[in-house]
Amino acid sequence: MNTVKTVRELRAAVARARGEGKRIGFVPTMGNLHSGHAALVTKAAQRADFVVASIFVNPLQFGVNEDLANYPRTLAADQTRLLEAGCNLLFAPTVDEMYPDGTAAQTRVSVLQLSEGLCGASRPGHFEGVATVVNKLFNMVQPDLAVFGEKDYQQLAVIRAMVRDLNMPIQVFGEPTVRAEDGLALSSRNGYLTADERAVAPVVYRTLTQLADGLRRGRRDYPALLAEGKAQLQAAGLRTDYLEVRHAVSLQPAQIDDRDLVILLAAYLGSTRLIDNLYLQLQEPSA
Ligand code: PAF
Repeated sequence: MNTVKTVRELRAAVARARGEGKRIGFVPTMGNLHSGHAALVTKAAQRADFVVASIFVNPLQFGVNEDLANYPRTLAADQTRLLEAGCNLLFAPTVDEMYPDGTAAQTRVSVLQLSEGLCGASRPGHFEGVATVVNKLFNMVQPDLAVFGEKDYQQLAVIRAMVRDLNMPIQVFGEPTVRAEDGLALSSRNGYLTADERAVAPVVYRTLTQLADGLRRGRRDYPALLAEGKAQLQAAGLRTDYLEVRHAVSLQPAQIDDRDLVILLAAYLGSTRLIDNLYLQLQEPSA
């Protein structure tokens, strides 16, 4: 696996693979890779002949008080993990390579509606930063397909909409969240948790599964159901940012007769913001 740092080297390597008739798969990341990322690369390798991964901690998607400076950078370990997962080429550009005229001058891509609310409400500008960098990376790599984790459910919806709205000839695949044995969704930010916080963190997934059970049993009193979930999180010492039941595709607030649902959650455990979600399809009511 080669690592390249410039767009010129990236394009040359991808052109060589394409010249050999290879189908190009792409997995964009911010590094500090865990088995969830490895699963994305493995999936890309199953669907493509040549897999490109990128590692770029994108300043455009971090708010002023967020963890850009402290975001873990672990290039050597990431290279080993990518190689083992079947990656053929790593693109690891500098900020100057990605934004040669600076981030302020950068043209932006906004995916309206889907970027509003949920993480978009607590992280203003975040999805514009994500859509912009993913658009740039797509233009640089020009992949046939790209693979993203379903853990970032709203991000995946935003990227799918961008690809559709801007007629990009790229197939987007979502891959299920990889979890620790106790249910905690793998995330680079889990590394910020203290040992005590890590012991408490599985309450996030437990809460989601309990709410999903309630919905499957026929509960549709969303406000009361969600209040129970928030109380459980609070009792465990978490501060809920949002906990919502939404339509799984439109991400609009769920209506009583919606069957295709996603429960989305963001909560602070100490200073760490954890996000997770659970998709569920309810049975049609019998006639
Ligand atoms: O999910 C991530 O790691 C990032 O948001 C992405 C898609 C690589 C864009 O910077």
